Amino acid sequence: MLSALARPAGAALRRSFSTSAQNNAKVAVLGASGGIGQPLSLLLKNSPLVSRLTLYDIAHTPGVAADLSHIETRATVKGTGHTGLGDCISLLSLVSCIGSFLGMTRDDLFNTNATIVATLTAACAQHCPEAMICIIANPVNSTIPITAEVFKKHGVYNPNKIFGVTTLDIVRANTFVAELKGLDPARVNVPVIGGHAGKTIIPLISQCTPKVDFPQDQLTALTGRIQEAGTEVVKAKAGAGSATLSMAYAGARFVFSLLDAVNGKEGVVECSFVKSQETDCTYFSTPLLLGKKGIEKNLGIGKISSFEEKMIAEAIPELKASIKKGEDFVKNMK
Ligand SMILES: NC(=O)c1ccc[n+]([C@@H]2O[C@H](COP(=O)([O-])OP(=O)(O)OC[C@H]3O[C@@H](n4cnc5c(N)ncnc54)[C@H](O)[C@@H]3O)[C@@H](O)[C@H]2O)c1
Repeated sequence: MLSALARPAGAALRRSFSTSAQNNAKVAVLGASGGIGQPLSLLLKNSPLVSRLTLYDIAHTPGVAADLSHIETRATVKGTGHTGLGDCISLLSLVSCIGSFLGMTRDDLFNTNATIVATLTAACAQHCPEAMICIIANPVNSTIPITAEVFKKHGVYNPNKIFGVTTLDIVRANTFVAELKGLDPARVNVPVIGGHAGKTIIPLISQCTPKVDFPQDQLTALTGRIQEAGTEVVKAKAGAGSATLSMAYAGARFVFSLLDAVNGKEGVVECSFVKSQETDCTYFSTPLLLGKKGIEKNLGIGKISSFEEKMIAEAIPELKASIKKGEDFVKNMK
């Protein structure tokens, strides 16, 4: 049994996969048969926090659902095809999709994924307007503005409940720092802010707990590795896809944090790409205090180094362009 995948790392940023609390969260995974969707659904099925797991995909959903349903944990599992989309989306929805193509950039993914994200989030807006929406589908820097615009169109927009899942960047930063410093990765916390593509991924090594120091050349190399870690996996898989297992872990970590906060736990903090007033960008990732209704408080950027300030300045034009691209896509939709 995967009883505890990570230990709490500190008072502020905590990341335990809770197994003690019981509640009745209904979670839906959209894109559940995919490379991320399957292991993510397995982690969710393994959690006592989840009472019902609804799986939606355009392919293979009955098989994935039947397989997971035999696991001896309390969550009931229901798979549905596209005809059951309305029924599948429940209290807390997780949107995971769609189509990872080898060699494609996040921008290349835009055309495929924008339509799918808009369609699925429109269904969420119609059938579960109160749900927390966690978007994994890339390019996150555009799919979050798309989701927000779709919810606005339906008159049910709540910026505190729409999250771009950037947790994999934090997970990678923690792991790489721990490797370099010989630390236990479960005890390392690196906030990663900005967006979720290349140079827009801004690890705040200066805010790492425990405090770590690197010479500038090592810091530059470490930052670059975190920003390009997705490519590292794509190359290593040599044609067999992109990050799926680590992403499933990261997605589950984010959902469990959200469920903990919804259940009333205090001090739950995760970084996520959300509607923001912290910079010139209308969406930006920073550490967020999570609560029963989603974002309780944006904790902001905090004190950073001049190296990190420069990275933010360089990221902002790209972020603004990606945000506009997402917003324009929905405006121009028929
Ligand atoms: N946020 C992150 O850190 C992060 C990390 C890695 C990958 N991703 C993104 O996650 C997404 C999924 O990646 P993957 O490797 O699981 O891809 P995948 O191709 O293995 O799986 C995608 C799944 O979505 C399903 N699907 C396609 N259209 C659908 C629709 N209209 N409705 C429901 N389901 C549909 C497919 O049938 C497939 O099962 C991609 O966009 C990828 O770029 C995000």
